[in-house]
Amino acid sequence: MNSLKRKDLLDIQSLSVEEILLICRSAKYFKDIFTRSVKSVPVLRGKAVCTLFYEPSTRTRISFELAAKRLSADLINFTVATSSVVKGESLIDTVHTLEAMKVDYIVMRHAASMAPHFLSRNINASVINAGDGFHAHPTQALLDTYSIMEQRESLDDGTLAGLHIGIIGDIKHSRVARSDIEAFTKLGAKVTICGPPTLVPDDFKLYGVDISYNLDELLPELNVINLLRIQKERQKGSLFPSLREYHRQFALTVERFRRCRDDVIVMHPGPVNRGIEIDDAVMESPKAIVNEQVTNGVAVRMAIFYLLAGGAPLEEMNEE
Ligand code: CP
Repeated sequence: MNSLKRKDLLDIQSLSVEEILLICRSAKYFKDIFTRSVKSVPVLRGKAVCTLFYEPSTRTRISFELAAKRLSADLINFTVATSSVVKGESLIDTVHTLEAMKVDYIVMRHAASMAPHFLSRNINASVINAGDGFHAHPTQALLDTYSIMEQRESLDDGTLAGLHIGIIGDIKHSRVARSDIEAFTKLGAKVTICGPPTLVPDDFKLYGVDISYNLDELLPELNVINLLRIQKERQKGSLFPSLREYHRQFALTVERFRRCRDDVIVMHPGPVNRGIEIDDAVMESPKAIVNEQVTNGVAVRMAIFYLLAGGAPLEEMNEE
């Protein structure tokens, strides 16, 4: 298999293990391109990519835009705040406008779960989900998977078996948690979610994860610690006594970090609330790979564009 035999990339649930590995292994090729003096390749020459973000984003949007540019696509940045959406234009009319302009790819972030799925049924362009409500953030999960495999040098083996991954924090409101859990468990990892009971719903057991409310007990067992942001903007009412109390029980503090395994990897999808989920000094540790995750995000998104376009022998690109 050298391409994704699908129009869209909407969630992890619908991806096979083979497809996840194809994306991760292709991402390694694109990451190697970053070391060249010319970092672009002509994979999407003549194609148009539109980033359609109805919610704020720093890294996902910039990462997709850089990926599209490095693949030589024409890039349109649709900014909701300065578009006719503020005059009341509906999503379907916005979609028809983009369809009429013959856009080839739409990268969408939306507060409503399944909005990219709706879009994909109503447009011929390829739709890539850049985060929908609480539901899914598949490209974050793919870059997280790639980052772990890169650190563990397990890309060739194609498995996360034998790793215990902890996802810590606001699981309830997190599309990253849902997509990460799906990706990590598909590839054989043991996953434990941990946080205050109000932010760690019991029904997540249906995803095949363990649940812990005690970070201090869990930490020494973990090979990978994936910290999630407290999403104040999505929380209705107070779900824990205070940020100070959250930090006391669930932050990766310097003292807790000392009790982790020597080979632990610390991850965070960003944006980071420093001093709430993680202490500054831990962020600065070489074991914290937050910036490497961002770099890998560009490579993974290049791979997704490339594979949705039908792939091409990678050797041909080496001749450019
Ligand atoms: N990780 C992530 O989705 O970050 P942004 O919200 O900045 O895109």
